[in-house]
Amino acid sequence: MNAHLPKAYQSGFQDFYGRDFIVTPDVLIPRPETEQLIDTVLNLAGKPYLKGVKPGPNLLPKNPKILDVGTGSGCIAVTLKLEFPEADIIATDISKKALKIAQKNAKKFGISIPFIISHLLEKVNFTPDLIVANLPYVDENWDWLDKEALSFEPSEALYAENNGLALIFELIASASKLKVPYLILEADPIEHQSIITYAKNHHYILKETNGFILILHYN
Ligand SMILES: C[S@@+](CC[C@H](N)C(=O)[O-])C[C@H]1O[C@@H](n2cnc3c(N)ncnc32)[C@H](O)[C@@H]1O
Repeated sequence: MNAHLPKAYQSGFQDFYGRDFIVTPDVLIPRPETEQLIDTVLNLAGKPYLKGVKPGPNLLPKNPKILDVGTGSGCIAVTLKLEFPEADIIATDISKKALKIAQKNAKKFGISIPFIISHLLEKVNFTPDLIVANLPYVDENWDWLDKEALSFEPSEALYAENNGLALIFELIASASKLKVPYLILEADPIEHQSIITYAKNHHYILKETNGFILILHYN
């Protein structure tokens, strides 16, 4: 076995939000910063997510339809279904291989989620109440990038053109056509200002940021 292979690929598992997810080199290894995306959704739904922290008001409808775009291992979709069972969770990815792993994780945790193979919203024929997405947001040409450390993960899970923003921008434009009320997106904080400006031109205003996470509201 390659000694540099990340531990998660060696063991076949990665902890995410306190649960062990199956991972293979077909999927991105879930990152700790993405756990904040889960907290952000729970907070938007008025649910307690941290002992001692008072949740905000519920801004989502009863049984909201939540779409996870670029689900990878399924860590976001599966965790949301387990933490927020009354929500209707659907997930997409462009990678068939990734969706197989996501299915395995749903099965491991005894839940059922519709997984759709799709480029962004192309095959989505409904309007969700909320889109969550941790899409690729790294540009291969960033000179501070440790490409060696990322070399074991699928490049289609990491890299996007236009300084890392191409897929996020395309998702915002498509969501705007459907008037999706909320978008919760992960991106490097250095990209946040460009995303906020682009979103504003597509009817989305920033509600707040939380670490790597942005909440955008259609208006
Ligand atoms: C950064 S990974 C995130 C995986 C997982 N959601 C997580 O947080 O660990 C991005 C995912 O987006 C998927 N993806 C890349 N381009 C896509 C596209 N055009 N449409 C849908 N999914 C895409 C990749 O296959 C990958 O699974």
